[in-house]
Amino acid sequence: MGLFIRRSLALFISILLLILAFRQLNTPDEFPPPTLTSSAQITSPVKWKDIALRYPITSFIPLPSGTPSPIPRIQHEFGIETEHKKQQREERLAAVKRTFLHSWEGYKKHAWLQDEVNPVSGGYSNGFGARGATLVDALDTLVIMGLEKEFQSALSAVKKIDFTTSEEVSINVFETTIRYLGGLLSAYDLTKSKHSVLLKKAVDLGNMLYVAFDTPNHFPITRWDWANGASNGTQETPSQALSAELGSLSLEFTRLSQLTGEPKYYDIVQRITDHFHNHQNETTIPGLFPVSINPALENFSTDRTFTFGGMSDSLYEYFPKEHLLLGGVTDQYKGLYERAIEAAQDRLFFRPLTPKNEDILISGTMTKNAANNFKLLPAGQHLTCFAGGMVGMGAMIFDRPEELVTARRLVDGCIWAYDSMPTGIMPESFQVIPCTNPQDCTWSNQRWHEAVLEESGFGRTFDAQRIIREDGLPPGFTKIDDKRFLLRPEAIESVFILYRITGDPSLQDAAWRMFQAINNSTQTEISNSAIADVTSPHGEETEKLDSCESFWMAETLKYFYLIFSHPDLVSLDEFVFNTEAHPLRRPQHKK
Ligand SMILES: *[C@@H]1O[C@H](CO)[C@@H](O)[C@H](O)[C@H]1NC(C)=O
Ligand SMILES: *[C@@H]1O[C@H](CO)[C@@H](O)[C@H](O)[C@H]1NC(C)=O
Ligand SMILES: *[C@@H]1O[C@H](CO)[C@@H](O)[C@H](O)[C@H]1NC(C)=O
Ligand SMILES: *[C@@H]1O[C@H](CO)[C@@H](O)[C@H](O)[C@H]1NC(C)=O
Ligand SMILES: *[C@@H]1O[C@H](CO)[C@@H](O)[C@H](O)[C@H]1NC(C)=O
Repeated sequence: MGLFIRRSLALFISILLLILAFRQLNTPDEFPPPTLTSSAQITSPVKWKDIALRYPITSFIPLPSGTPSPIPRIQHEFGIETEHKKQQREERLAAVKRTFLHSWEGYKKHAWLQDEVNPVSGGYSNGFGARGATLVDALDTLVIMGLEKEFQSALSAVKKIDFTTSEEVSINVFETTIRYLGGLLSAYDLTKSKHSVLLKKAVDLGNMLYVAFDTPNHFPITRWDWANGASNGTQETPSQALSAELGSLSLEFTRLSQLTGEPKYYDIVQRITDHFHNHQNETTIPGLFPVSINPALENFSTDRTFTFGGMSDSLYEYFPKEHLLLGGVTDQYKGLYERAIEAAQDRLFFRPLTPKNEDILISGTMTKNAANNFKLLPAGQHLTCFAGGMVGMGAMIFDRPEELVTARRLVDGCIWAYDSMPTGIMPESFQVIPCTNPQDCTWSNQRWHEAVLEESGFGRTFDAQRIIREDGLPPGFTKIDDKRFLLRPEAIESVFILYRITGDPSLQDAAWRMFQAINNSTQTEISNSAIADVTSPHGEETEKLDSCESFWMAETLKYFYLIFSHPDLVSLDEFVFNTEAHPLRRPQHKK
């Protein structure tokens, strides 16, 4: 990863490739373990719970107890809605459900029990170990949408899935945790603990994943050779890990401890949090963590790239959420969040130049070079769009009301990026023009054209109009690094959270525009597909990419559904969503 210098093409491409390859980061290829034990050597089911650990922990950090501090109400007090409003909302709700069922039918028919359906060609893909990623991930969506029959058949399927093994040689601990463990726990919580098989499967998986943490300093092996783990091979702490992968395990493991009374799951993630806590003031940008750290050396300063985008994103997202899940009994996560958000406002958030001079914010990427100069890459990523929701949540629960404005400006930045494209859909990543003076940010065509030329590297004599035409750049955009849309949820997630906080109906209208645009451009005969180019001219069919990641049905459509549902359905005052949009039950305080 290393430094990110705007003009250095090679570095730019390598970082971009990383960003592309990782969903909220996922590629098993990035950190290949040296030698892999063949999982074929493991013949009988592994009893993970009984494996002799190399570095057993004798004293567990217990779940924090004490008096829960009352957590302020998050949701807006919604009044009675008019008949007309209700009817419109319910029509939209039904449309989202129809799209979900269309996608779900495609998965059932072509990919049942496999990880993902191939929405163009039919058939399936198995990138997550062939344990039915889509159906496990979407269990809670089925509950939320009231699809009882579908839920029952998914539940029967879950009973058949063996969570003590994987078809992958190297398990991605983060992805397995958020998609599978989170999916199981959330469905268990939402069905009021009625289906014990869900908790049993979560325990199977939790016990397997636990062995990934069996290293000298208990940092997990983020790309884990599980067969080696099962057969008493050597386990070393990795020398590189993405900060999001380490920081986004706490909710699921904490919930598993809360539900089972077994402290070891919470203990193992709390140890990681303590490291983040202890090092937060000594990173290159104190308050923020770089995209990559060295767990073996416990060095948080080996990298100088900082972003709320891919590779770091959900690390930050989990700070306020873990605070909620623990019922506010400690101040640790509050402190982590507050220091991070203050640094981010200083270093990451910027106002871009836009044709209508909208007062919006984009969360960019900041680096510090060897000469200790800061350099902002004025780039937006779809992945950073979760930030508006997080800042909104933080504003409510930590009583930072002025940041509700920041949250709204971040959300409006993502809505602006959707509305700017001819398809009505935001691209995966792009670049804009940061205003030099955020108070005075008046649009100028000339300034835009200059920035386009500068970004293109062709120099001032070249024809900016031609680049704009050929690259399909809407006004305000200087480059679109990645024109794809991968069915991602982050933007609608934040629109949903801000809607539940503020009750502003214009957010529902924005969501409806987004939904229609996405539905229209991604639907295939079989299901819904990622698309190649959101800058395709209006009305033209866009190229489909034959991919439908599990988060489409587990996250994106769930948030679209919830913004049009009755606001009591999965209230933010009762549940906290993990990064894969699985609601987990929060401890309840007396009002
Ligand atoms: C596991 O390996 C260690 C060291 O390599 C050895 O001391 C120990 O006896 C082994 N344990 C089992 C159960 O094989
Ligand atoms: C980091 O700095 C803040 C104040 O800037 C302080 O409150 C906090 O205790 C420090 N954290 C550590 C682990 O030293
Ligand atoms: C961490 O790594 C950086 C870069 O390699 C190095 O300069 C720094 O001294 C290391 N810090 C610690 C505490 O080891
Ligand atoms: C999507 O399609 C619907 C129905 O075909 C149409 O009414 C709507 O205008 C389209 N929306 C967009 C954003 O393309
Ligand atoms: C979703 O898209 C499909 C295909 O373009 C269209 O037939 C359907 O009417 C759309 N649904 C909504 C709610 O716009």
